[in-house]
Amino acid sequence: MLPATASVAALRVFAAVLALTLVSAGVALVAAAAVVPVQQPDAEVIEQGKMLYADQCASCHGMEGKGDGPAARFLAEEVPDLSTAEWKYAEDGSVAALAAVIKAGIDDSPMTPFEGTLSDEEINAVATYVVHVLRSKADTGG
Ligand code: HEC
Repeated sequence: MLPATASVAALRVFAAVLALTLVSAGVALVAAAAVVPVQQPDAEVIEQGKMLYADQCASCHGMEGKGDGPAARFLAEEVPDLSTAEWKYAEDGSVAALAAVIKAGIDDSPMTPFEGTLSDEEINAVATYVVHVLRSKADTGG
């Protein structure tokens, strides 16, 4: 058996080691959190998407995405309201699904492919704008 003082010392060492272990585990957790991709898209991407949308999409889909752009009434086909519509082509309504529709276009429709007109990066930006700005305005009623 160790004398009482020795076991107190041993306990202190143990406590110190335990504290250090917890601290380094904490540091590891913080480091792991830092590499998790951010959910909110970059403000620059949104801004780029907004400009591209105004240029390339608003004539038909309208500035707020409501399907009421100045060209809409000249089209035989109804222009969908991007801010509220149930997606017919854009599957789950994700940025990736919208980007795929925008890139490939829709057959026999005024919604022509944007591949060649816009780069993949630009298509991604405009899809991000629709999903995160036009869509979320409608979702929150604001
Ligand atoms: C010339 C008019 C016109 C322009 C310009 C246009 N669209 Fe469209 N878009 C349409 C029409 C019409 C449809 C519906 C086609 C159909 O239902 O067959 C459509 C469909 C879509 C859909 C599919 C909606 C669904 O229900 O899944 C998305 C997404 C979309 N457009 C996004 C865009 C974006 C983003 C741009 C700009 C890069 C754009 N459109 C430019 C006319 C246009």
